[in-house]
Amino acid sequence: MAVDSEFGVKGSSIIREWSGQPVCGSGTSGSRKDCLDPFAWPVVGNAMQLGQMPHITFAKLAKKYGNVYQIRLGCSDVVVLNGDRAIREALVQHSTEFAGRPNFVSFQMVSGGRSMTFTNYSKQWKAHRKIAQTSLRAFSSVNCQTKKAFEQNITAEAMELVQAFLRYSTDGRYFNPAHEFTVAAANVMCALCFGRRYRHEDLEFRNMIKKLDKFGETVGAGSLVDVMPWLQSFPNPVRSVYENFKSLNEEFFSFVKDKVVQHRESFNPDVTRDMSDAIINEIEHGGNSGLTKEFVEATVTDLIGAGQDTISTIMQWILLLLVKYPEMQAKLHELIDKVVGQDRLPSIEDRSSLAYLDAFIYEIMRFTSFVPVTIPHSTTSDVTIEGLHIPKDTVVFINQWSVNHDPLKWKDPHIFNPARFLDENGALDKDITNGVMIFSTGKRRCIGDQIAKVEVFLFTAVLLHQCSFESDPSVPLSLDCSFGLTLKPLQFYVSAKLRGKLLGLVSPA
Ligand code: HEM
Repeated sequence: MAVDSEFGVKGSSIIREWSGQPVCGSGTSGSRKDCLDPFAWPVVGNAMQLGQMPHITFAKLAKKYGNVYQIRLGCSDVVVLNGDRAIREALVQHSTEFAGRPNFVSFQMVSGGRSMTFTNYSKQWKAHRKIAQTSLRAFSSVNCQTKKAFEQNITAEAMELVQAFLRYSTDGRYFNPAHEFTVAAANVMCALCFGRRYRHEDLEFRNMIKKLDKFGETVGAGSLVDVMPWLQSFPNPVRSVYENFKSLNEEFFSFVKDKVVQHRESFNPDVTRDMSDAIINEIEHGGNSGLTKEFVEATVTDLIGAGQDTISTIMQWILLLLVKYPEMQAKLHELIDKVVGQDRLPSIEDRSSLAYLDAFIYEIMRFTSFVPVTIPHSTTSDVTIEGLHIPKDTVVFINQWSVNHDPLKWKDPHIFNPARFLDENGALDKDITNGVMIFSTGKRRCIGDQIAKVEVFLFTAVLLHQCSFESDPSVPLSLDCSFGLTLKPLQFYVSAKLRGKLLGLVSPA
C-alpha cells in the first residue's frame, strides 16, 4: 500500500480552489431542486473558477451542492454529474436522453467533420457506431486467426519498445518514455487498420503523432473555445491552441485518407486485409447504412485517434507508478518469473494466472482516473435527474474521477493499493473491478475497451518480463499531471535494465 499526498484532492500544487457557486443544484441530500444564488460572471460565467484540475473542483462542488448541479461556462449552461448513482441513473436508465454530443465548433474539426465520436445522437450516428464496433470486433477478438495476429502485433510492438528503452539506457542514462509509448500505441492501431507499422525513428510519423498529444487539450471538459466562441476573434492563448487543434486534425486526417485511398484502389472483396478493408466493405459494398464513402476515412481516423492517446497515456502512468513503488515492481517480476519463466514471453493465456498484474492495471485506472471527465455529452430531450430538470440540448460533463475516488465506495481512495481488487484467494474480484469507471457507460461507452485491456496487459507484461525500471534518483518523482481529455504525467525520466535474456521478436502472422 502506498499513500500519496501529491496526487488527489490533498495538497497538490497544481490544484486551485473553486471560488464561486453553481447556478442550480440537486442538493446534498439529492432532493433539492431549487436554483442556488447565481454567481456566474457575465460573459465568462464560471469558467475562470474551474482551476487547473476541473474534475477535482467538480467533486468538491458536489459535496456542497449535490451530485447533479448546473454551472455556466461562457455562453453555455453545463450540467455536471458526479458519483456512481447519479451517473448510472443518467447514462444507463436515461441512456437515450444523455447520448448526445454538443454542437461545439471544435467537434466539427475532427475526422474531416464526419467523426462518429464527436457527432450528436441520430439514426445515422447509430449506423456509424455499429459499423465501427463490428469492424473492431472482427479484427481483434471474434475469430481465432485475427485475434492471434492482433496479440502478436502487440507483443512485437512491446519488444520494439524494450529494444528502444534498453538503447536509451546505455551507460546508465535516463530517458523520458512518453514519446516511445505514443509511437507504439499508434503502431498497434496502424497494424489493425492498415496492416503496417512505422519505425520509431521515422521522423515524419513521430512528428505527426507527437502533435496528436495536444488533441485532448481542446476537446476535454473545461476547454474554453467552444463555450466562448468570441475567443476566436482576436489573438490570445486559447485561439492559438485552437488553431493548432485545427491543423493537427487536418494533418492527421489527410494521413489516414491517403492510406484509405490506397486501400480503395487495391480493394478485393474476397480478401479483407485489415480494418480499412472491412470498413470499406461495410460502407461502400454493404447494405444500406446510409453513409457515404467519406465516412470510411472518418471511421479509421476516429479509431486510430482514440486508441493512440488513451493507450500511450495509461502506459506512461504504469511506468511512472512502477518506478514510484519498486516493491510492487519486484512483486510483479517475481510473479511473472514464476508463471511465465525466462524462456518465453508472456501471452494473453497467462492472464488468469497473473491476477496481481491485472489488479495493478485496474488500480492505475482507478487511482489516476486518467480520463477524468468523459467527452462532453448533451441531452437529446428534456430529462430530470435527482430532481433537477435538464432541458434538451444542455451540455453535460460526466465526472468519472468522482466515481473512482468516492470514499463511500472505496476504502482510502487516495491510497494506491492494487490488492483492493483481489479476493482472499488472490483472484481478481470482478464485482470490485466493475466499480472502476474509466470507459464510461451507456450508449456512448467506449467501443475499444476490450482491445485496450488486452493491449495494456500485454505491453506491461512484456516490458516487466524483459526489463526492470528505475527512476533518476537526482530528480524527485512527482505524480503531477496536465489536464485535458486525458490526464498526462509531467515529464519523468527512467532507466531500463535487461533482466534475463533478450527474447527474439515475434513476427506478426
Ligand atoms: C485505456 C484505454 C481507453 C480508455 C480509458 C477509453 C475511454 C473512453 C471514454 C471515457 C470515452 C468517452 C465515453 C463518453 O463520452 O461517455 C471513449 C470513447 C470512445 N473510445 Fe475509448 N478508451 C480507451 C481506448 C480506446 C481504444 C483502444 C479505442 C479503439 C480502438 C477506443 C475507441 C473509442 C471510440 C470510437 C469512442 C467514441 C464512442 C462514441 O462516441 O460513441 N477507445 N473512450
